[in-house]
Amino acid sequence: MDSLSVLDSYLHLVFLPTSAALPSMAAVIAVALAVLWFHPGGLAWALSRTGRSIPGPHGVVLALSGSLAHRVLAALAHSLQAADLMAFSVGLTRFVLASQPETAREILNSSAFADRPVKESAYELLFHRAIGFAPFGEYWRKLRRISATYLFSPMRIASFEQHRIEIGQKMILDIMTSRDSNEVIGMRKILHFASLNNIVMSVFGQRFDFGNGEGAELEELVKEGYELLGAFNWSDHFPLLRWMDPQGIRKRCRRLVDRVNNFVGRIIEKHRRRRVDGVVSNDVTGDSFVDVLLKLQKEESLCDSDMIAVLWEMIFRGTDTVAILLEWIMARMVLHPDIQRKAQSEIDGVVGSSRRPISDSDVPRLPYLQSIVKETLRLHPPGPLLSWARLAIHDTHVGDHFVPAGTTAMVNMYAITHDESVWDAPETFKPERFIEESVSVLGVDLRLAPFGSGRTTAGGCARGRPWLWPPSTCGWHSCFSALIGSLPARMEWT
Ligand code: HEM
Repeated sequence: MDSLSVLDSYLHLVFLPTSAALPSMAAVIAVALAVLWFHPGGLAWALSRTGRSIPGPHGVVLALSGSLAHRVLAALAHSLQAADLMAFSVGLTRFVLASQPETAREILNSSAFADRPVKESAYELLFHRAIGFAPFGEYWRKLRRISATYLFSPMRIASFEQHRIEIGQKMILDIMTSRDSNEVIGMRKILHFASLNNIVMSVFGQRFDFGNGEGAELEELVKEGYELLGAFNWSDHFPLLRWMDPQGIRKRCRRLVDRVNNFVGRIIEKHRRRRVDGVVSNDVTGDSFVDVLLKLQKEESLCDSDMIAVLWEMIFRGTDTVAILLEWIMARMVLHPDIQRKAQSEIDGVVGSSRRPISDSDVPRLPYLQSIVKETLRLHPPGPLLSWARLAIHDTHVGDHFVPAGTTAMVNMYAITHDESVWDAPETFKPERFIEESVSVLGVDLRLAPFGSGRTTAGGCARGRPWLWPPSTCGWHSCFSALIGSLPARMEWT
């Protein structure tokens, strides 16, 4: 990106007294505002009590409101030589952004950044009662413990293997049906529904047909939720706007929450009746995450709305991330037929001519396929700004820089994975790099941490044991490989 477009990506409003006729008071205010505006890092940093400034653009950065924020911020940090840490302002919110592994590690592993800033939409959608946005403390630790034990444990993930195989087969059937009738194949939709069904089965213990009825309703709720949570909300950064709700986000969130409460509440009730009265419903299984929460409800003091928030968050977080990753993997296979052929021949060597589905246990014998997944995570990390940010709960330092309490800290994983001082030929899609060098994607190596990195907690981590997030991403990682491996295994992609 050239420097002009970088300059375009943030505002330069210059408040200068324009006429000698201006009353002297107004002139003083205008000059003061101009001084604040031109402070490194912009307005919000000028109003904070920092000593030596962290380098950063002045004015107000608007990039976060666009879909390519990670690219714009990477270029900005590069042009200002602020890759280790850059300060910027969005309205009255102070941000720091790390675009290098060392400072990224400091932020993600520091107990000073234990909390997350809660956007208005997340709060309105009740996510402050779910893992990702719950304030750091006892409740948050409880939710992490429950999900680590009962949703992300390797045993749980393995127990849904048959279901994943069926999803893979259904994808192939849908694609073949479209191909035989010469229809254009909308891969995005197929992969999105596969991903949604994958997560919905382990969370709700139920499969949906997304074409109609409850399935169509669920799809609508997820879509609206993504839009609201992803929307850039001016009220988050200009407190004066909050009462006005100028973009109507609060209103839409409240409407959505009623519908989600109703939808997830009905599912919980179905499982509860099954457990309590033995009323067996054909469309739900008895070993889903809903059942786990119902079993633990009393001993862990969870109310129904807590359970709804947790269940809904899992559906939310687990759908788009996986769908985007699968789509990029397929796009890369099409763009690089040689790589696709290599993956196919590796798969042939494992499943042979039987064309049986790939199972989780095959994945360790498919190192090249796994390298393709890793290389895709590197070039196209699904949450490039390590969604979502952390909040400094007290004054702290990142490197030599002083960061005051209340600052929002982010990591630009995209900038790190595209940095030529970190990766050789970073723009080249080269899965072989992971055959030559074993690199963990689980957060220990900040050169590639698409799932985030450890958070020091008072529990297990106070003793220096970092949490890896998601706790068993390795389990999920093999799911991605097994799920996506079924596509090149069965057909040629051009
Ligand atoms: C390609 C797949 C995925 C990617 C790239 C991804 C990425 C991320 C990232 C970057 C974070 C923030 C971590 C941090 O702040 O350090 C996160 C948090 C989270 N993810 Fe994922 N994720 C994926 C799949 C999933 C799935 C399948 C689930 C659920 C079934 C899930 C549930 C969560 C939850 C609950 C959190 C919040 C954790 C916390 O704050 O303690 N993610 N994810």
